Amino acid sequence: AIKTVILSGGSGTRLWPASRESYPKQLLPLTSDHSLLQETVVRLNGYAGGEVDAQPLVVSNEEYRFIIAEQMRQVGVRSAQIVLEPVGRNTAPALSLAALAATAEGKDPVLLVMPADHVIVDVAAFQKAIAEGAAQAEAGRLVTFGIVPDRAETGYGYIRVGPLAGDTDSARVLAEFVEKPDADTATRYVESGEYFWNSGIFMMKGSVWLKAMAHFRPDISAACDAAFAGRSVDADFLRVDKAAFVACPSDSIDYAVMEKLGTAPELGQGVVVPLSAGWSDVGAWDALWAVSEKDGDGNSGRGEVMFESSRNTLVHATHRMVAAVGCDDMVVVETADAVMVAHKSRTQDVKKVVERLKAEG
Ligand code: GDD
Ligand code: MG
Repeated sequence: AIKTVILSGGSGTRLWPASRESYPKQLLPLTSDHSLLQETVVRLNGYAGGEVDAQPLVVSNEEYRFIIAEQMRQVGVRSAQIVLEPVGRNTAPALSLAALAATAEGKDPVLLVMPADHVIVDVAAFQKAIAEGAAQAEAGRLVTFGIVPDRAETGYGYIRVGPLAGDTDSARVLAEFVEKPDADTATRYVESGEYFWNSGIFMMKGSVWLKAMAHFRPDISAACDAAFAGRSVDADFLRVDKAAFVACPSDSIDYAVMEKLGTAPELGQGVVVPLSAGWSDVGAWDALWAVSEKDGDGNSGRGEVMFESSRNTLVHATHRMVAAVGCDDMVVVETADAVMVAHKSRTQDVKKVVERLKAEG
């Protein structure tokens, strides 16, 4: 069976003012009436590739626990398993806690690890890739999903693939994984046509992840074991021992394990399943516009929105009606207490506003 593990720790400051530290982007309805977190669960509905455990595992910090539990119920999850981190220690420890919880009762499911804040437009293509990934993970491999890059983005991992991974027509052997290369290297990779982006979605058996961490990061592994050993369970919430987890070093799945996999083949082969499904990690508003449904003029509106003589513009309104007149390539985000207007090519700079707001208190 597949156990869904949803990583829901980030805050998404470039999607200000909709996304706040107190209400991060994964909990917002940005592309539909569901939040991105809810979409992450719903995306597996109707999956025909095998059994999916009805109880998803969400790893998050304490602060969002009630919203997460409520949002899970809204999409028909009767009981989620919500692992609460007392502090953020990045994705490698988060996944270790999830793997410990998933394997606690002598089970060893294939974990489908998904960030809570990604958009995937083509759900059927996604489910097909997951079925291929599940078969690979069942065989003890560590699976990543590769996206064909369209720019030299330095915030992503890059993966180079080798020959087909066994009896398959899509999965390939992972030949090289480079997390967040510098701009020159990223440009070279994209121009070579030999690299995929790492989507940040992974599949592997729980035991395979735990063994890899014990090998590559015994310090993190020991800290997570101790934190999990001191756990307490209260309804859907699983809390780990605070002191032990605070003492855990930070690292990401990518740096801690994926980059180093080739050095220890006995731990399991890395495999890449190509994913062509309209994937986006919606890092900023321009990315949200790109994956949103648009009218014939390329405009995308959420909420009570009117477009007049406008093109390729995104308007996101939650409290008031917004009319855009003569707007080309603009983004307008209206919330109860703040309105943001930006040129679509400059939406990365929204984080500067957030930094200034923080600095100016
Ligand atoms: N529970 C929990 N705890 N979740 C976390 C934590 C944490 O401490 N830190 C991050 N996350 C969640 C984030 O909310 C996000 O959904 C996901 O894990 C990935 O973390 P990011 O911090 O957004 O990673 P990244 O964007 O720098 O890089 C990763 O994603 C890229 C694609 O979007 C890497 O996997 C890259 O290789 C990849 O290309
Ligand atoms: Mg990210």
